[in-house]
Amino acid sequence: MHDDIAKVLIDAETIQAKVRELGERLSRDYAGLNPVLICILKGAVIFAADLVRQLSIPAKLDFMAISSYGSGMRTSGVVRILKDLDRSIEGEHVIIVEDIVDSGLTLSYLLENLKSRQPASLKTCVLLDKPAQRQVPLEPDYVGFDIPDEFVVGYGLDYAENYRHLPYIGVLKPHVYEGVSQ
Ligand code: PRP
Repeated sequence: MHDDIAKVLIDAETIQAKVRELGERLSRDYAGLNPVLICILKGAVIFAADLVRQLSIPAKLDFMAISSYGSGMRTSGVVRILKDLDRSIEGEHVIIVEDIVDSGLTLSYLLENLKSRQPASLKTCVLLDKPAQRQVPLEPDYVGFDIPDEFVVGYGLDYAENYRHLPYIGVLKPHVYEGVSQ
């Protein structure tokens, strides 16, 4: 285990089993619909890459990169699009793929933004849900794991751009981020 990790919250095998299960559910629910999965960079890249390989139906993949204004570890809710989708999603069945929903501000911004582009349907698939931090009412449609209110990294999730490569979800030792404003 990495030295900065206090404990493993979800091990690699458990994540892979859950991603397989989510892939099977999406394959059933979207059969014949050729959905577009939108991976929100950067955190969701590992999850999305594993998820698409568990689909048994044709699907498209696109990417968005966004940045939230504000410093520290918390999202401000004000979002700027750094990279937009390559293609129009009008009339498409769209699934937003996110690594984590925390305050819910990022996902609610994305839902509003993408809804205005008139997709045929719009749903959300998140690996981790941290309901304790919610600032806006938001229930993701597909959820891998509900997690407690702890600072988690790994499997795409970072702290200061580190730890994304870890194959598990771990709780960061507090001394690593102590002194950082929230
Ligand atoms: C993380 C995560 C979500 C967002 C969730 O992204 O990938 O997009 O925060 O938080 P919220 O529910 O409080 O809005 P982050 O801004 O850390 O960027 P990254 O994906 O590039 O790591």
